[in-house]
Amino acid sequence: MKMVSWMNFEEELKKKTVHMEEVLEAFLPKEEGLQKTVIEAMNYSAMAGGKRLRPLLMEETYKMFGGSGELIEPFMAAIEMIHNYSLVHDDLPAMDNDEYRRGKKTTHVVYGEGMAVLAGDGLLNFAFETACLAFERAKTYEEYRKVAQALSVLSKKAGIYGMIGGQCADIEAEDMQTDLTEELILFIHEHKTAALIQSAMMIGAILAGADKEQVAAIEKCAYNIGIAFQIQDDILDVTSSMEVLGKPIGSDEKNNKITYVTIHGLEKSKEKTASLSNEANSILASFPTRNLFLEELVEQLIYRQK
Ligand code: IPE
Ligand code: IPE
Ligand code: MG
Ligand code: MG
Ligand code: MG
Repeated sequence: MKMVSWMNFEEELKKKTVHMEEVLEAFLPKEEGLQKTVIEAMNYSAMAGGKRLRPLLMEETYKMFGGSGELIEPFMAAIEMIHNYSLVHDDLPAMDNDEYRRGKKTTHVVYGEGMAVLAGDGLLNFAFETACLAFERAKTYEEYRKVAQALSVLSKKAGIYGMIGGQCADIEAEDMQTDLTEELILFIHEHKTAALIQSAMMIGAILAGADKEQVAAIEKCAYNIGIAFQIQDDILDVTSSMEVLGKPIGSDEKNNKITYVTIHGLEKSKEKTASLSNEANSILASFPTRNLFLEELVEQLIYRQK
């Protein structure tokens, strides 16, 4: 197989991102009824743009293991809903207190704090309502079983043993100037960021019929991608600009967050991002069925500017 050229990659990525938007939009709730305002706030945050990385990683992992068809689509929409809920709550004044996301005012600035809390809750719950639609698409007992397994991974990785657990430790680590160990930083990154990326890729693998060992290898691979992704997010919080990033820079400093960058400096952090991503790619390259687009995507995340 020939390697994907960079230009092809950029074009492919654009097309695939449009596809992600279409899948997500198809599952979002209609803005009607007496609950219209909360639904508007949910859709405002979900349709504000973004890289759509998690559904993309999900579908590309699915394809890598030979998956095809639409069984995966409810999960692609669901993971993006959960990701967006986490951002709506993360931006609240009680958490990071940020006013811009993806170049637009954050949900609580537009709809008020109460409605933003509900929009986050709404997106989280609606994600599971959406993921359950995959049962209706399952045609065999085997597919039914895979959907159940995927739901179990999604719920765990989003919860207290996943993303919420990481956000908890992240809040408590604010102002922790001396006791913040490497171990704690990695716990925070693994849970607040890598967990959702792991669930995205694991669900892709599970629905495509990957075996237990393969799913475990994907979990490790996505751990590396997730840690690298958060280190890069923390690098950009220092080096980027509001115009490029679409969200305020200096958010971590404002909140007295100790990050990989504050501990190790920019150079070491960049090296770590690259080495973790390379490790992730060597896991991907070890499977008999490879997805060169996915490998290129992981590589490009090292250099991402937003
Ligand atoms: C931001 O995630 C939150 C982190 C886990 C670092 P993304 O950088 O994927 O945000 P969008 O969806 O592209 O805006
Ligand atoms: C957030 O990390 C991770 C989430 C679970 C939302 P950050 O607080 O660094 O994410 P940004 O920089 O606001 O996107
Ligand atoms: Mg945060
Ligand atoms: Mg934040
Ligand atoms: Mg950040």
